[in-house]
Amino acid sequence: MALLNVLHFPNPRLRLKAKPVGTVDDTINTLAKDMLDTMYAEGGIGLAATQVDVQKRVIVIDLSEHRDDPMCLINPEIIELEGTEQMQEGCLSVPGYYDLVERAEKIRFRYLDLEGQAVEANAEGLLAVCIQHEIDHLDGKLFIDYLSPLKQQRLRKKLEKQERLERQQVQVL
Ligand code: NI
Repeated sequence: MALLNVLHFPNPRLRLKAKPVGTVDDTINTLAKDMLDTMYAEGGIGLAATQVDVQKRVIVIDLSEHRDDPMCLINPEIIELEGTEQMQEGCLSVPGYYDLVERAEKIRFRYLDLEGQAVEANAEGLLAVCIQHEIDHLDGKLFIDYLSPLKQQRLRKKLEKQERLERQQVQVL
């Protein structure tokens, strides 16, 4: 088991665009496994390779109650979008912040599985939102990018304040 370091906003590396995976080999399988371990350890329901500073189009998701039904999607792509819905979102890269984001309600998507087989499927509800959120990461996009400029400014100020407090605590020690 290997735990990877999750990048936090505003780290500029979260803005890098991930490249498609050419061959689904052992390296990709190990990456997906390490990403799952990291996601479970951090208590998330989805994680994109960009968040662990790997610019490859790999995402992992597990929405099951007992955290025992992982999905690994290589080169995921959305091919159809339908409807809209608002859901409260959070992100392991933006700890402690949650807000409503509007996304497509239903999607049709395709990806390669860990054996390199092409899969096409439909999703709705939380899974559809999660896939859209994780694919955004691969394109260097965060859920907070959808918020109003005012909310983004407030969030930035809050994080800067947190950072200042953390620095002060280090000086006291
Ligand atoms: Ni996220």
